[in-house]
Amino acid sequence: MDKEYLGRYRIREQIGKGGMATIYRATDELIGRDVAVKVTDTSQGGKDVTAESVNLQFSMEMQISGQMSHHNFITVYDAGMEGAYCYLVMELLEGVSLDQIIYGSAKPMDMRQKLDVLIQVARALHFAHQRGVAHRDIKPSNIMILPNGLAKVLDLGVAQISEGSSIRLTVKPPAGVGGTPYYMSPEQINKGPIDGRSDLFSLGVVAYELLTGKRPFMADNLFALYERILRGNPTPIQDINATIPDKVAAIISLCMNKDPNLRLSSTLAFADQLDEIINESFFEGDGALISQETLTILKKYRASFAFFYDLDNSQLYRLLQVCQVKKFKAGEIVFKEGEVARDMYLVMSGQVRICRGPTPEKSLTIQVLKRGDIFGEMGIIDGGPRSATTIADMDSQMLAIHQVSILRCDANTAGKLYRNLAQILSQKLRVTSGKLVEFVAQTNI
Ligand SMILES: Nc1ncnc2c1ncn2[C@@H]1O[C@H](COP(=O)(O)OP(=O)(O)OP(=O)(O)O)[C@@H](O)[C@H]1O
Ligand SMILES: [Mg+2]
Repeated sequence: MDKEYLGRYRIREQIGKGGMATIYRATDELIGRDVAVKVTDTSQGGKDVTAESVNLQFSMEMQISGQMSHHNFITVYDAGMEGAYCYLVMELLEGVSLDQIIYGSAKPMDMRQKLDVLIQVARALHFAHQRGVAHRDIKPSNIMILPNGLAKVLDLGVAQISEGSSIRLTVKPPAGVGGTPYYMSPEQINKGPIDGRSDLFSLGVVAYELLTGKRPFMADNLFALYERILRGNPTPIQDINATIPDKVAAIISLCMNKDPNLRLSSTLAFADQLDEIINESFFEGDGALISQETLTILKKYRASFAFFYDLDNSQLYRLLQVCQVKKFKAGEIVFKEGEVARDMYLVMSGQVRICRGPTPEKSLTIQVLKRGDIFGEMGIIDGGPRSATTIADMDSQMLAIHQVSILRCDANTAGKLYRNLAQILSQKLRVTSGKLVEFVAQTNI
């Protein structure tokens, strides 16, 4: 790269290389922060790679990203063009891409971690699909993993926006189908209609590769590769890695069905099913953990506690069978700020402190919770990173309720629980809005 600056971004060292672009670490000198800049030198590309077409693609990516913020999607800040150089400015991720993990240049993951990554990506994709956006280029190099385990999906440059989408583009999406051959769905190859189920197929291919280290569809040339994807059957996944659980193998194979109607219904269904599998141990000894005493306490809570108040005895009992009682010693951390998780807690006895800060020593206590209080409930709603650290103030007992626990209840119970959770959240939102109004009034903004 012969330029020191692109726009206001001071280009530093190269941190990645893709098919058409190079990624650099750079400094945004106006804001004073480091960013990642993806640069395509269009003077080096073929006849399809013009500065206008790449600029269009980057602008579109910036607009989609700006209107579709989610913790599992990378944030794009800016896009620009300078001579033959087109660039896209994004948050700098201090992590590794999934292909580095698969092909050994980064620390390997165990089965649980791998499935957890697939769940996060599937949930992020579902969020996009609900907004009428199909990613169309799901592959390992477009998924990055941060040190806290958070997965980030990259590259919305070839995404497709459906007609009913809430996303508004001021640029016309570039023509062409996009995608990367090894991961394309049959309907992508056939240039047929695309929806979220096409991404589900690609995610199935990624899952296969992540768990075996081999791509399901391989060939010597593009034509043969497309033929494989359209009509070939991959080697059964357990023939390559016998440690893959039967249920996981079955789900992945279902995602790669040639007919979109015969796949799972959505990437969320894929996430939920994997979540149930990895949390099977959560349910071990069904009910044995819930003592009669606990049940009595919780029945008492029901009268005053919003989360359980309209469950009848059998519904409460069934829910408790799929929850876990966890004990924490005084000073023990329940969870840390930034950790990704899909569960919430109810304080059954003792006391916990919610803290925020750079380190446990320098953190500020923002709330103290006692018997009957709940915390971490956003984990159930969006599975995003924890916004605070929680520490047991004394020996305490907590009831852990996993996202999957609720899925294991009957539909009526699940409906009530989500409604009650929504009530708790709306109450919190009212309090926050009230504080904000007070703050604005005091500061005369
Ligand atoms: N924001 C970022 N922060 C840190 N590293 C990044 C960032 N974006 C990309 N990378 C790294 O750069 C690599 C290359 O990304 P890039 O999207 O250019 O290539 P690719 O996905 O292999 O190919 P394609 O050109 O089809 O997108 C990624 O796999 C990742 O390791
Ligand atoms: Mg990429």
